[in-house]
Amino acid sequence: MANLKGKVIIVTGAGMGLGLAAADVLASKGANVTLVDYNNEALNKAKTELEAKYPESKFLTVTADVSVEENVKNYVDATVREFGKIDGLYNNAGIEGKQAPLIEYDIEVFKKVIDINLLGVYYGMKYVIPELQKNGGGRIVNVASVGGIRGVMNQTAYVATKHAVAGMTKNAALEYGKDNILTNAIAPGAILTPMVAEAFHQVNPEDPKAAEKEYASRNPTKRLGDPKDVGSLVAYLLSDENGYVSGQVIAIDGGESNMYGNS
Ligand SMILES: NC(=O)c1ccc[n+]([C@@H]2O[C@H](COP(=O)([O-])OP(=O)(O)OC[C@H]3O[C@@H](n4cnc5c(N)ncnc54)[C@H](O)[C@@H]3O)[C@@H](O)[C@H]2O)c1
Repeated sequence: MANLKGKVIIVTGAGMGLGLAAADVLASKGANVTLVDYNNEALNKAKTELEAKYPESKFLTVTADVSVEENVKNYVDATVREFGKIDGLYNNAGIEGKQAPLIEYDIEVFKKVIDINLLGVYYGMKYVIPELQKNGGGRIVNVASVGGIRGVMNQTAYVATKHAVAGMTKNAALEYGKDNILTNAIAPGAILTPMVAEAFHQVNPEDPKAAEKEYASRNPTKRLGDPKDVGSLVAYLLSDENGYVSGQVIAIDGGESNMYGNS
């Protein structure tokens, strides 16, 4: 399986959810990891947990809002100062925004979702790619969503920005493949993280567990995804084992996005 010994990987949104789970899998395979999040408390808790579990890996924390360009430049510079190089980026931080029908969508929320989900991912690539070029290549995994390949009711801003992530991924793969930089996006379905738990709460504030159960019953596997399922795919895509997959948007959703109607 993917070996990441000695690799230096940046994980954004590493305080909880998919970012934290991926950082755990990456460290289990030998990577040194820069943990980036704007939630300082979650970030410190993540670092303490990971250091105890993986004493042979090094962890750097950088508090940053990925929607602020200087913050992104800073997490890249801090990583190079600490580790001397960058091998990979897991461009994961993102928010869902509020659920509302398209014509009622709050424009301020829409702009915030663009700033974080679209520009945050863009800035990450903008500052990491030159470091990968200096290092003879590298790997990038951007986090889209099934909402980056399909529509999702009441999530116009989220779906728009995740489609944009898919588009930027294809461009980065085209423009920097010559530099041995392979860029892919993953498109998770419903993976049980704090963000998804909050979405079930919005769907059914009285009984979010009922909403979760109902949602899982529609998946071919009859379960939600585990963040570790996603971490394993990310580790492969960020490793040298991945020699030729680039520019792809890879669904990780138990097969659900292939369903049509009530099949
Ligand atoms: N969980 C799922 O089922 C699912 C499905 C599809 C896509 N995704 C995507 O996966 C990514 C992670 O989702 P999650 O479910 O782990 O979410 P989460 O809310 O559980 O965790 C997200 C983390 O990112 C951090 N974050 C958010 N905005 C940030 C910003 N501007 N700067 C720095 N850090 C920021 C949060 O503090 C948090 O620690 C998101 O891009 C999300 O859209 C998740």
